Amino acid sequence: MKKILVIGSSNIDFVATMDEFPKIGETVEGNLFSYNMGGKGANQAIAAKRAGGNVTFITSVGNDDYGHNALEFYKKEGIDTSYSIVNDNITTGTALIWVDKNGENSIVIIPGANDLLSTGIIEENMTIIDESDIIVLQMEIPYQTVKAITEIANQKGKTVILNVAPAYPLDEDILKSVTYLIVNENEAETILGENKEEVGAEGLVDKLIEKGAENVILTLGKAGSIYKNSEGHLRIPAFKVEAKDSTGAGDTFCGALATRMSKGDCMKDALTFASAAAALSVTKMGALPSIPTEIEIMHFLSTYTN
Ligand code: RIB
Ligand code: NA
Repeated sequence: MKKILVIGSSNIDFVATMDEFPKIGETVEGNLFSYNMGGKGANQAIAAKRAGGNVTFITSVGNDDYGHNALEFYKKEGIDTSYSIVNDNITTGTALIWVDKNGENSIVIIPGANDLLSTGIIEENMTIIDESDIIVLQMEIPYQTVKAITEIANQKGKTVILNVAPAYPLDEDILKSVTYLIVNENEAETILGENKEEVGAEGLVDKLIEKGAENVILTLGKAGSIYKNSEGHLRIPAFKVEAKDSTGAGDTFCGALATRMSKGDCMKDALTFASAAAALSVTKMGALPSIPTEIEIMHFLSTYTN
């Protein structure tokens, strides 16, 4: 099995559920409050690990209870955290998450220690890049770090998976260094400066390829996903489930996909597995707490009826 290296954010998620989001200046009564570990990097690492992958996670946390607990938690899950860093005088990343009655969310992030995941940490730990086969990145750490890693990893012939979440207007050099670009429609619009109403989902994919992306995976929520490269095109339908909380579904998709790729699945099988993992995560509250295990995903796939 190939080795997966996830480099990215750790947050503590403070989640409030409510029927409807308050308008500016309005106070509404919510339903439930919870807090748990999260962050797109952490969620992807956990998703890859629970799906059965061999995972190392490089992250940056504060020297506080949240940061220490997060690293301990990843270790207990079986993830190698030995290259992660703990920083004094800065808080662990924080996410304030609202979830409405339809399971849709709004998130505010305070990056804290995630901002200190600089390119230096990669230069100091080049051996782990060398030892890894698949490198998974998202956009909750500094852009320059993501850019430097994609370039180095690409030169070393690694498979680089970049999930452009949260949305960020990437430059073309990054697009060309990435092996698999994973975006939703809003993220594709931000990268391209295009409007999906005008060009359509397929148009967004084509334009990303024109700009230099090699393999594009466009996730469409309930409408599934599109996978395209210069050789072909796949459309993967989504699994229908009852949505409770979609937070972290994209992260679950990316992590599970990396793991199935690491095990040598063809893209159709890997994408189907990843969609099942994401669908399962949507049926439970929270991001990280809702990430399914390999057994749960296999069971879902074998019992699902449309
Ligand atoms: O993608 C979901 C994640 O986004 C949450 O866990 C939260 O930490 C934010 O980063
Ligand atoms: Na969830």
